[in-house]
Amino acid sequence: MNRQLIRALVAAGTLLLLAVLVFVGKAWYDSRLPETYNVMEYGAPDYGGGPAPSHDHERGRTSVRDLGGPTGVADVRIELTARKAEIRLDSGEKVDALTFNGQVPGPEIRVKRRDLVEVTLLNEDIDRGVAIHWHGVDVPNREDGVAGVTQDAVLPGGRYTYRFRADQLGTFWYHSHQDSASQVARGLYGVFVIEPRARPATLDLSVPVHTFGGKRVFGTSDGLVRRPVAAGREVRLRVVNTDDVRRDLFLRGTPFRVLAIDGVDLKDPGLLEAVKLPLGAGGRYDLGFTMPSSAVSLGDLGSRAGIVFGPPAGVESPPVDPATQFDPAAYGAGWTNGEPLDRFDRHFTIEIGRKLGFLNGRPGYHWSLNGKLFPDVPMPVVRKGELVKITFVNHSGALHPMHLHGHHVLVVSRNGEAVKTPWWVDILDVGADERYDVVFRASNTGIWMLHCHNLPHAGAGLVTHLTYDGVTTPFRVGGHAHNHPE
Ligand code: C2O
Ligand code: CU
Repeated sequence: MNRQLIRALVAAGTLLLLAVLVFVGKAWYDSRLPETYNVMEYGAPDYGGGPAPSHDHERGRTSVRDLGGPTGVADVRIELTARKAEIRLDSGEKVDALTFNGQVPGPEIRVKRRDLVEVTLLNEDIDRGVAIHWHGVDVPNREDGVAGVTQDAVLPGGRYTYRFRADQLGTFWYHSHQDSASQVARGLYGVFVIEPRARPATLDLSVPVHTFGGKRVFGTSDGLVRRPVAAGREVRLRVVNTDDVRRDLFLRGTPFRVLAIDGVDLKDPGLLEAVKLPLGAGGRYDLGFTMPSSAVSLGDLGSRAGIVFGPPAGVESPPVDPATQFDPAAYGAGWTNGEPLDRFDRHFTIEIGRKLGFLNGRPGYHWSLNGKLFPDVPMPVVRKGELVKITFVNHSGALHPMHLHGHHVLVVSRNGEAVKTPWWVDILDVGADERYDVVFRASNTGIWMLHCHNLPHAGAGLVTHLTYDGVTTPFRVGGHAHNHPE
């Protein structure tokens, strides 16, 4: 080869390398998030085929600050103090926890339907701040508890008061939405139950299932707990999965019904027996049964922890058949939206995938939404009163429990087929290669997080916001309050 040719090749190669470096460098540079930002400045507005907002910036602007709960005398007043504490599990193991009122889970809150609830959050010593989200309770936007979106994180010595009317009925939970991936795992969560005004005589028990200090805990225990229950007694177990991943639960020793999902009672739920009950992260199943004269046990297939109800000398019940599992898409009578579902004001497609690139300056194979990495993700925009459909498509190869704040959505189709029995959820497990259609009426004005509830996934960019046209927030992620909702 002659010298000139070699020189030309080297020059061309160098140029190409430089071009690639500039390209990658720019992608890296552009991906970096500023130290503080407003969530509304990010994301690409997606109008879902509906009208784009008018450009009249002066009229029709609402701040999330103006979307608060009702004033007036509260029926229930609760104080939750966030503080560090060492928690001792039944097994003797000690865990450095973050707690509400010194306990994990935080105190169970039970209110009556239509109560005006007032909860004051105090932060004693959680340096990075705390905020409380009422998961599944469709509260007014300002009460939603998302640091950097609906409020500033409450720093040590600070306080914040939440007020809302408990208009729903059922099983919900609360958890911190500041640094949530770490704070929820470490203990900042609890169960929130809204009971009917006249409480039935059932034994009604909430059972949050969590992985705490590496141990599975049912309620407060990392072992097998016995609980005597008289034969013939009606029992309602409110099981809440407060972990990041699906749990394969079982209830054995008796036929039972799934009475409610995500705080919505099912219609005509049939009897089930010996089936596996996969419960997605953040989801709730209310299980009902009549206590037999032998033992009944609640547990999950991945651990030894659980609760055994009934006589101490109860007969060991037959094991569950892990091959049959509960499927809400074909159970009971199914719900409708109460209106025809053939025309939607907006239809959004949210495709979850993976993509090589930079996420806030970090190179990697990151979660993507519609082919984009956070913060360039699609941001669905709606107007109050519209009928909305969201199609979730999952090509990421992993399971994602997708959660929408402030709304319940009706699951109407799976993998392109209408489900037999549509059911209401506030969180939906979207498995690898699955596709779901959910519908809802946009009735709760605000800026609402829509994210994966495998909370480390949310921290890695699987997050966007459903926004109502014209709503703004004065709060910022980062900044002086160190807001960091994920
Ligand atoms: Cu359970 Cu964004 O929350
Ligand atoms: Cu996920």
